[in-house]
Amino acid sequence: MFLPPLSRRSCFGLLTATAALSSCAPKPPEQAAAPAAPPDEPPPDHERRIQWWRQAKFGMFIHWGLYSVLGRHEWVMENEGIPTAEYEALAAQFRPKPNFARAWAKLAKQAGMKYMVMTSKHHEGFGLFDTKLTTYCAPRQAAGRDLAAEFLDAARAEGLRAGFYYSLMDWHHPDGARCRNEEAARRRFVDYIHGQIRELCTQYGKLDILWYDVAWPLDAAGWESEAMNRMVFDLQPDILVNNRNLLAGDFSTSEQRIVAEAAQDWEACMTMNGSWGYHPADDDWKTPKTIVRNLVTCARDGGNYLLNIGPRADGSIPEESVRILTEVGRWMGKNGATIYGAPRCQVRRSNYCNFTRQGNTLYVHVHFWPGSTVTVAGLKNKITSARLLASGQPVTYRQDGLRVRFTGLPAHPPDRPVTVIAAECDGEPPQDMNEVVRIGRARAGV
Ligand code: GLC
Repeated sequence: MFLPPLSRRSCFGLLTATAALSSCAPKPPEQAAAPAAPPDEPPPDHERRIQWWRQAKFGMFIHWGLYSVLGRHEWVMENEGIPTAEYEALAAQFRPKPNFARAWAKLAKQAGMKYMVMTSKHHEGFGLFDTKLTTYCAPRQAAGRDLAAEFLDAARAEGLRAGFYYSLMDWHHPDGARCRNEEAARRRFVDYIHGQIRELCTQYGKLDILWYDVAWPLDAAGWESEAMNRMVFDLQPDILVNNRNLLAGDFSTSEQRIVAEAAQDWEACMTMNGSWGYHPADDDWKTPKTIVRNLVTCARDGGNYLLNIGPRADGSIPEESVRILTEVGRWMGKNGATIYGAPRCQVRRSNYCNFTRQGNTLYVHVHFWPGSTVTVAGLKNKITSARLLASGQPVTYRQDGLRVRFTGLPAHPPDRPVTVIAAECDGEPPQDMNEVVRIGRARAGV
């Protein structure tokens, strides 16, 4: 996606450049002695608060706001240079149908998702929640309803965890850009942002997640992010926060790609087409197979997958998203045990499979079905039994030092989009491609 000069990515670049420059400049002694940036550690009580999330693995992201009226991506205000007054008029057309969120929550549940995160306010600055700090919010405009409350009620009715996305960057607030250079503007704006976060944390009962986004144009000190998190945890002792207010947070948030962190909880968030907000012309849809494969990769590497829908302004979900999630849900219904709560799995090498594990059970996720035999190299454990997970049908296998061959399989994949073979091992299954396969194998003349 094209990102203009004031975008988040370029301003991160700027901030980094500024940091690099200022680190070369002489510092007054008291500054030089001060502790460096905030510690790279999760907030207090992380282990207790994160337990449910590590089990959950799969969540629904919802991007919804005035941009959904236009249907040309959630960055439409900035990327088409729409003046504020013209954009504000969209609020008159944003009148969601009743019970919109019930369909979201039902679909999330059916898809096997365990939590939901909705944009309470995106970069456009329009609140879907009830804020006393501006009239630019759904309850005080044509919608006349607290959409955030309706969202939470629907998620809770389906037994799903739920929380809010909240954009720190704000294109509507008069101080949203000015705060970069004027201290008085920064003071007003940070008070406004902290005030809205306080409202989110006090008006809706127990929240499970607060998902900050885009810290442009300030740094953590400018946002007073330490104080922000302290306030959030005082009000919501069980909540999880992400890292986009420029502190470590409870989990990191790679976007549109899977970045497995070794020493940190992490969540990869992704769109189903190329846009977070409703964008009907964007037909770049991922297939259910791609989504299942991404989810398996996240589970294999110890992370979560937060998958987005971009509803229309009336709250209805694009049919293509429903179709994809329904198929993913059908798969999760049979194979969810391979995903939920899965610890990291070291086995990964194959041209047509991926892997997850639970205890000593290795799940071989075959996404390109090779026919009657599926072969995995370098397993260091003995396999004691194997079966097709979806049907329970036993699978015969042969194992020698180098490889295990699952044999007698049907010519076509018995389950779609990915077929899982569950292999019971006599210990936690490690794969060793070097010692066992490359070095241990006799290669004539090498
Ligand atoms: C980016 C985009 C934003 C989207 C978010 C989700 O930061 O600016 O539109 O909400 O990613 O991760």
